[in-house]
Amino acid sequence: MKVTWGTHPNNLGHNDYPGCFRCHDGNHNDKTGKTITNDCSTCHNLLAVDETDPKQLAAIGLQ
Ligand code: HEC
Ligand code: HEC
Repeated sequence: MKVTWGTHPNNLGHNDYPGCFRCHDGNHNDKTGKTITNDCSTCHNLLAVDETDPKQLAAIGLQ
């Protein structure tokens, strides 16, 4: 099938390709006309948001 590295985009995450944001960008609607959500908390469980020194970073060994 001549498929090699780079033949298909890697749509995981948000950095290299749009991924979920191809539809979940707030500009696409479902067939009932409702906007397909781009609310981060639909897909992510935010554990720390505004903390300057979140304890979660220490818990996973990053601080
Ligand atoms: C429709 C679902 C969805 C929405 C909405 C969403 N994300 Fe994600 N996000 C993902 C997926 C899936 C991954 C990849 C997870 C993995 O690699 O294990 C990801 C990964 C990430 C990452 C890790 C870096 C990367 O690109 O892999 C960050 C940071 C992130 N999201 C932030 C956000 C923020 C901020 C928002 C709101 C603006 C958001 N996400 C909205 C699904 C979503
Ligand atoms: C081809 C378009 C498309 C892509 C790409 C897509 N979605 Fe969706 N997603 C939809 C549609 C359409 C719905 C239903 C929205 C509605 O009924 O209002 C939906 C709904 C959802 C919901 C339920 C949202 C809610 O409010 O109940 C989640 C969670 C979700 N998607 C996660 C993801 C994740 C994670 C990715 C990437 C791995 C992704 N989606 C990629 C089209 C897409």
